[in-house]
Amino acid sequence: KAIHLSDYAPPAWLIDTVELHVDLREDVTTVTSRLAVRRNPARAAEGPAPLVLDGEAMELVSVTVDNRLLQPADYAVTAESLTLPRLPEAATVEIVTRIKPQENTALQGLYKSSGNYCTQCEAEGFRRITYFLDRPDVMARYTVTIEAEKARYPVLLSNGNLVDQGDRLDGRHWARWNDPWPKPSYLFAMVAGTLAQVEDRFVTRSGREVTLRIFVEPGNEGKVAHAMESLKKSMKWDEDAYGLEYDLDIFNIVAVSDFNMGAMENKSLNVFNTKYVLANPETATDTDFLGIETVVAHEYFHNWTGNRVTCRDWFQLSLKEGLTVFRDQQFSADMNSAPVKRIQDVTRLRQVQFAEDAGPTAHPVRPESYIEINNFYTPTVYEKGAEVLRMYRTLLGPQGYRKGIDLYFQRHDGQAVTTDDFLAAMRDANPDAAVDWAQFQLWYRQAGTPVVEADGAYDAAARTYRLTLRQSLAPTPGQPEKAPLLIPVTLGLIGPDGADLPLRLEGEAAAGGTTRVLHLTGASQSFTFVDVPAAPVPSLFRGFSAPVRLRFPYSDAELTFLMAKDGDAFNRWEAGQTLATRLILGMVAERAAGRAMTVPPAFVQAVGATLARAHEDRSFAALALMLPSEGYLGQSMEVVDPDGLHEAREAIRRTVGASLRAELRRLYGECREDGPFAITPEAMGRRALKNACLGYLMAAGDAEAAALCLEQYRSGSGMTDVLAALSLIADSDLPERQACLEAFAAKWQGEPLVMDKWFTVQALSGRPDTLERVRRLTGHPAFSIRNPNKVYALVGGFTANQARFHAADGSGYAFLAERVLELDGLNPQVASRMVKAFARWRKFDAGRQAHARTQLERIQATPGLSRDVFEIVERSLDG
Ligand code: ARG
Ligand code: ZN
Repeated sequence: KAIHLSDYAPPAWLIDTVELHVDLREDVTTVTSRLAVRRNPARAAEGPAPLVLDGEAMELVSVTVDNRLLQPADYAVTAESLTLPRLPEAATVEIVTRIKPQENTALQGLYKSSGNYCTQCEAEGFRRITYFLDRPDVMARYTVTIEAEKARYPVLLSNGNLVDQGDRLDGRHWARWNDPWPKPSYLFAMVAGTLAQVEDRFVTRSGREVTLRIFVEPGNEGKVAHAMESLKKSMKWDEDAYGLEYDLDIFNIVAVSDFNMGAMENKSLNVFNTKYVLANPETATDTDFLGIETVVAHEYFHNWTGNRVTCRDWFQLSLKEGLTVFRDQQFSADMNSAPVKRIQDVTRLRQVQFAEDAGPTAHPVRPESYIEINNFYTPTVYEKGAEVLRMYRTLLGPQGYRKGIDLYFQRHDGQAVTTDDFLAAMRDANPDAAVDWAQFQLWYRQAGTPVVEADGAYDAAARTYRLTLRQSLAPTPGQPEKAPLLIPVTLGLIGPDGADLPLRLEGEAAAGGTTRVLHLTGASQSFTFVDVPAAPVPSLFRGFSAPVRLRFPYSDAELTFLMAKDGDAFNRWEAGQTLATRLILGMVAERAAGRAMTVPPAFVQAVGATLARAHEDRSFAALALMLPSEGYLGQSMEVVDPDGLHEAREAIRRTVGASLRAELRRLYGECREDGPFAITPEAMGRRALKNACLGYLMAAGDAEAAALCLEQYRSGSGMTDVLAALSLIADSDLPERQACLEAFAAKWQGEPLVMDKWFTVQALSGRPDTLERVRRLTGHPAFSIRNPNKVYALVGGFTANQARFHAADGSGYAFLAERVLELDGLNPQVASRMVKAFARWRKFDAGRQAHARTQLERIQATPGLSRDVFEIVERSLDG
């Protein structure tokens, strides 16, 4: 059942053109596909080969070869394929199939969302529309004719240009689209429905006028302005930063409310989850606005990194995803605050990708085998993949990186290639770079998060500072042995006055700057700096220069020093996180030993210092005030203690809130909205800081804070403030709690995306009755197990609630298993994403493990399980 990278072979046949005719009817949709196929010359030496087309979940009506109707004896059909054993070297194959999009709950292939037809073909959805060579290294030119009832489906869209359209006498109409760019089937898309559109325009740097359209359900036209602005900014940025220009006259985005993922980069017809398109300040938070900017950019950037140059096979997924995530990160950093964006990206990486790396589903950025490819759209392929791209840039510098990118497009435009091809372009464009490329390649091949243990020794007499770095990488499933990686270590040395020292390594003639990139290549390596006037405090992995866990024996005082003085904003933040982590874990240990938890005054002082500097950069201050999440803290424990972590973290929040009350109140007041509502980095920073203060004040639990919070909930301008207040209320014992939640639902029942937030704040509540409430909410009229956003909001939200999901009695696990089994028959992809919450089960105590195992085995024993869920459960139980 498993597919292996080592089994890759080029396709025996190629498809040059596809003419699709899709006849949409309420009872059944008929797809006629005319394929110009020919033997792949690269495999001609092997002699005649059958044409084996992929296809599933449809009914075959007829097959014609060169206009001759085949008899059933002339071909073979299985549940997953159609084989034509004898074909001439080149032929025209016409296949008619029938499908029922209205019954498609998996949301792969052609399906219906709110009465409109739409598609999702990545990775293997096209084979649910028609028989095809459904693999990314088969690239064809598509002409698509869509026919439907005009009154119900006035808008008919596909990739490329509209070339013709017409009405029929019976109330039906049709439209024909042609995409001049050859593409793999996963980039095919079509849409038919009643949709409103907002139009704009972008002129490319060479003067091409591009019509931009965003299609939404009627009534939502007022919520697309931010997405449209983001699109135009992305188009401009890609020209400026990468020299990449758009290549068609139309760019369409369609927003649909039922979508398994965030969005999809289909050529010139991006299909988006409404979550990443619709926003106005009343309904969307600042985080939503930023998410829209990033995802719009991400999908647009795929036009070059993914579409013009695509993947040879799905093991290469990170070729397009890692690169495109890195590009969207760079874009968002340029549009907002670069350090803030970096902190947010690293937080996410550690929270989800480090967790993946530490568990049974750990896999390399370029996996070696899979059972179900949809299971590999992971934080490792996406986020760790983006870190690999960032390391190329760190090692080569911005210019060397750009040279590599240019060579990559020069060599591979129009091709389906591998991550090795990408690496070769980077290497060949930088022949003088001192990079061991074979070693760098291990980042694609080895799973797991490296640990770097560092130590420093200052020799006052010799005025030298010797930094020793040791790297190790624990075994992961299928990879017992690991080799040392090439780890770029961006560092500075900070003198006692807080200024960076000039850096000169032993043997160098002169100092070269105050921040440098060291190459850690061995298992253990020392670097000696000379001319060091006084004992420095090292600032290591500035900007998080490699996806590793660093261990350095900093004293609390040194961390406090770094929090205040480090010239690198990321490491200023990092020092605070390290200090907080140390403190919380110490408190958890105290509690486990039966002693009272105490919060050291030094920590409160450090937070006080952050508050005092907060006006310098409010977004940064808001992040600096954020304690590490319970989930991330759990990664540092031999056996995760979810209750201890929750209580220790709450205790700190209470103590800080009570001790710094006056200061928090003052800052809160200072950050209130003063002018008109704006979505600028400045305004967002102000709101983030204000809400961080409110969180601490509420944790202290006094009446004044409660009044402030209720007031913000009732009269807050904009969803950011309203939701921040509501989350705190939902987490509290305030008597107004229930009434506030009900009022919110009554007000927003007509806004599905706002109701998602309402489900999430309740699922994330630390209150002991959370599971009971979540169970009840699965029966709420606004909840639907068939809508992925609802499942992610409520069930996904609950699994992210470590203290409640990992309840000692196993009740959280039982709840999740029920939802997974309910979902699996409807939407395996969503079921599989949910079941991944079990993957960390072995990190907990024996009692919890027993409960988790029971539920995993219960799922495993269920007949008819999807490949998606089967693969994750299997790995979880084995690993
Ligand atoms: N390529 C899309 C993106 O990252 C995601 C598609 C996900 N599809 C899937 N079957 N998992 O923008
Ligand atoms: Zn992507």
